[in-house]
Amino acid sequence: MSASDTYYRDHWARIEPALVPMYEEFFRWQPNMEALIKGANIVPGVSVIDYGCGPGFLTLELAKRVGPSGHVAGCDLNAAFLAGARTRAESEGLTDRIDWHHTTDDRIPIPDGSVDRVLCKNVLEYVPDLATTVAEFHRVLKPGGIAHAIDSDWSALIIEPVGPERVSRLLAAARPAYRDPMAGRHLYGAMRMAGFTEVKVEIFARPDTRGQLLPVAMTLVTYAKQFGQMPENEADAVTADCQAAIDNGTYMLFLPQFLVTAVK
Ligand SMILES: C[S@@+](CC[C@H](N)C(=O)[O-])C[C@H]1O[C@@H](n2cnc3c(N)ncnc32)[C@H](O)[C@@H]1O
Repeated sequence: MSASDTYYRDHWARIEPALVPMYEEFFRWQPNMEALIKGANIVPGVSVIDYGCGPGFLTLELAKRVGPSGHVAGCDLNAAFLAGARTRAESEGLTDRIDWHHTTDDRIPIPDGSVDRVLCKNVLEYVPDLATTVAEFHRVLKPGGIAHAIDSDWSALIIEPVGPERVSRLLAAARPAYRDPMAGRHLYGAMRMAGFTEVKVEIFARPDTRGQLLPVAMTLVTYAKQFGQMPENEADAVTADCQAAIDNGTYMLFLPQFLVTAVK
């Protein structure tokens, strides 16, 4: 097995400390994410797992919504993210209603049938085995509980003016960074196979024309260079072309999000 075979996991488990602030900025809660989590129906008093919570910005938002009678568990593979999340929860006075779990394998350290909601945003493309993780969601939920997963399907990525051929080459070059780059389209079937009864899929699609999602394209460029799968000059040209298009108003990036809501 080569290092790139488990890169999809290892790069999250061992983020260089210098890069943690960049990720924290990237994963900040934004009000325009409301549409992504709506299906989870987070109401006062419910218990929620935020699986793959990262730096915990969404977790804190959930903790505010469940109120003092609710509870949130943030689980993540990265210990540095969790340390920052814990500090932020303390400074916001939310410690009493959040537990943080450092998960190092597929298992969620929560008893069977004990939570009302599992929310999982942009994580399932990285897990070692989608079916196993979704089965864990089913296991920890109470009967009637809701799993709500949000994920990309990278094959649907459009970056203009980069064009489809170069985007395909970029995705191929960045491939080791994802366990399942088409997780988005696989979520529906995975939820069905895990035994969920009502499974609903929606697609959230809002093209970015101002450069807010440019870090998505830049992350692919960084991976492509790092894996040595794309000539540096070609990767750098993607960056330059995106920047020029933002400057002249012709840029557009489109990465639909698959939202799957499933009831146990
Ligand atoms: C793209 S980030 C999303 C973070 C957060 N859910 C959000 O949307 O802001 C992916 C997160 O999944 C975590 N992750 C990746 N693989 C994981 C695994 N196997 N188990 C738990 N967390 C994992 C990473 O450490 C990272 O925090």
